[in-house]
Amino acid sequence: MEIVAERPEHAAAIETLLDLSFGAERHARTSYRLRRGVPPCAALCHVALEEGELRGSLRFWPVIAAGQAALLLGPLAVAPEHRGRGFGVALIRHGLALAERGDHRFVLLVGDPDYYGRFGFTRNLTRGLTLPGPFEDRRFLGLELTPGALDGLTGNVTSAAASACRVRAAAALA
Ligand SMILES: CC(C)(COP(=O)(O)OP(=O)(O)OC[C@H]1O[C@@H](n2cnc3c(N)ncnc32)[C@H](O)[C@@H]1OP(=O)(O)O)[C@@H](O)C(=O)NCCC(=O)NCCS
Repeated sequence: MEIVAERPEHAAAIETLLDLSFGAERHARTSYRLRRGVPPCAALCHVALEEGELRGSLRFWPVIAAGQAALLLGPLAVAPEHRGRGFGVALIRHGLALAERGDHRFVLLVGDPDYYGRFGFTRNLTRGLTLPGPFEDRRFLGLELTPGALDGLTGNVTSAAASACRVRAAAALA
């Protein structure tokens, strides 16, 4: 298994995998509203490959949470016939390790707490935040990259500017 940075030639296979995993109607979901019109954080988007074939994909988007720049983890998907082989865990561990080296202070996601709990994501950290649409309460999770970053944070989660990740990456290199 290899985890490599997503490249343009992976895009079509990723779309097929996301359609298969979440359905074509996924674009109406609340987490997709936060992604609309905003490119993902390219430096954090990776794919899992095996024998050159796409097995899984993880992307991150920039968002604003109560006025602070944050990351939205996902979508994460693994090819159905290859689930349970560690691709998902490997992609998340890799993505979070890279995110920790950047300058975002916390990560949000809408997903299964039984899966994401192992990485430290918890609903307790997002109680003060509101998403711009319906979501299942137990599935809105947060993880602090800087201890205390979500402590007492109250407000709305909104889309970031289209340039958000590019600007932050450039600032980190400067
Ligand atoms: C969820 C998903 C990404 C997991 O990827 P994966 O490569 O199959 O997972 P891994 O092999 O890395 O991890 C396997 C572990 O996760 C657990 N797991 C997988 N899906 C789970 C879920 N929905 N809830 C709880 N645990 C889950 C397995 O039981 C296993 O646990 P173990 O390590 O204790 O044995 C994959 O099943 C998938 O693509 N599902 C459809 C899309 C989806 O739901 N994406 C996540 C958005 S919430």
